[in-house]
Amino acid sequence: MKKFIAAPSVMCADLGKLESEFQALEAAGADELHFDIMDGHFVPNITLGFDFIRLARRCCSLPCTAHLMVLHPERYIERFVEAGSAVVVVHVEACRHPHRVLGQIRDAGASPGIAINPATPLTKLNHLLPEVDRVLLMTVDPGYAGQTILPIAFERVRILHENVRYHRYDLKIEVDGNVNVENAARLARFGAEIFVLGSASIFRTPGTDYTEALPAFREAVAREKTGIQQYEAPC
Ligand code: DX5
Ligand code: ZN
Repeated sequence: MKKFIAAPSVMCADLGKLESEFQALEAAGADELHFDIMDGHFVPNITLGFDFIRLARRCCSLPCTAHLMVLHPERYIERFVEAGSAVVVVHVEACRHPHRVLGQIRDAGASPGIAINPATPLTKLNHLLPEVDRVLLMTVDPGYAGQTILPIAFERVRILHENVRYHRYDLKIEVDGNVNVENAARLARFGAEIFVLGSASIFRTPGTDYTEALPAFREAVAREKTGIQQYEAPC
């Protein structure tokens, strides 16, 4: 049975009170923290850095995922792991030699993930799937919270999941961008297991009580998912 792994997006949290945000998200049952790292070059925005992950590791025990939306990610792997990242995800579009970067992440002691933008053909991942523990499938063009999911995202998750199942790869599919209840249920139905939760869900309203909002979101997605036309027997 596929799990619903909740990964709150730290860039959408209240940055003015991060210590209590991290502790509240942990108490609410979040499975990991998602840090969107942007360099202003790979994407037209600049957000979080090493010290945000270091702070999280001081405040809670949630595993931290560093989503590197940066050029030359190979320059930063060891520093994100040293800061406390359990997972480091790099973009296939940003790696000239992706096998080498994924090996660098594993050698540094973290779990490697590969991310792919909505317009990049999934075939770019074909020779990388055996090397990763997760594929982060962007459902929006990366760079900003608050965007609307691109309709092609659902079919891309389905195709990727079919490929993973056919080859029996041991990896999870993560989705990032406009993950609301309806989108999460459809993406889960097609094979997604890790969900980046941002402004479309638990961070929609400032001051939300996550201990209520996160379990409620999980339950709403589970209900919505059972109502969706069975594309295949539940995983
Ligand atoms: C895009 C960002 C966002 C963020 C979540 O680069 O990665 O997807 O994590 O934001 P929402 O849920 O508002 O799309
Ligand atoms: Zn992300």
